[in-house]
Amino acid sequence: GSGKFFVGGNWKCNGTKESISKLVSDLNSAKLEPDVDVVVAPPFVYVDLVKNSLTDRIEISAQNSWIGKGGAFTGEIRLKPTFSFLARDFIKHFCLYVSLTISHNVEQLTDIGCKWVILGHSERRHVIGEDDQFIGKKAAYALSQGLGVIACIDAVPSWDNVVIAYEPVWAIGTGKVATPQQAQEVHVAVRDWLKKNVSAEVASKTRIIYGGSVNGGNCAELAKQEDIDGFLVGGASLKGPEFATIVNSVT
Ligand code: G3H
Repeated sequence: GSGKFFVGGNWKCNGTKESISKLVSDLNSAKLEPDVDVVVAPPFVYVDLVKNSLTDRIEISAQNSWIGKGGAFTGEIRLKPTFSFLARDFIKHFCLYVSLTISHNVEQLTDIGCKWVILGHSERRHVIGEDDQFIGKKAAYALSQGLGVIACIDAVPSWDNVVIAYEPVWAIGTGKVATPQQAQEVHVAVRDWLKKNVSAEVASKTRIIYGGSVNGGNCAELAKQEDIDGFLVGGASLKGPEFATIVNSVT
């Protein structure tokens, strides 16, 4: 695999103050392998609660961000990243998990302690109706913050903080997980794509994680695959001990 194992918990639109406080306390007391990057993405309304109560061992992600500066955009959330990228070819097929290095200017996401944002999740594309162009605009805005806009993947200014999540849509929330071989095959294809379109170095360093019905029972077999560098977990991330099992599946 490439780099440090990465496990993200996408809580999606789930939880109440009560259930989230319980989840946070379970995560705080869970024993987590030290050599794994662990990130959770709570619903926006609970980010502050989570930020103030969750151990610093676990980083916090946003589930979305707006395409530009704040202003008259009812219901949206702004951020001011120092970089991001536009990856149209990927957005068509994959969910992108993008780490953003936040600038010193205080914007909403930094203000509430987010270090990451999920862009291009299939649920936002298929259910909410975000298209490549709209997702591209979000990325373009990010790029406009000091680094200029680029419109193709081989011009990404830095891949250091990018993690790519492969999520077969038929496996999301269905309980039907890809076989380790199926996932491995696609991860290899994504890595090859990076190699051809970006560089061999980026291909070997970029973490490609799997999402889609990952749970405590199937994570170990998946984690053994050479090109699976971590997971993006939905349903099972709502159960602290099970999420810890997934984090600890690193091989
Ligand atoms: O972001 C997470 C994925 O969509 C996977 O969700 O683990 O509930 O299938 P799931």
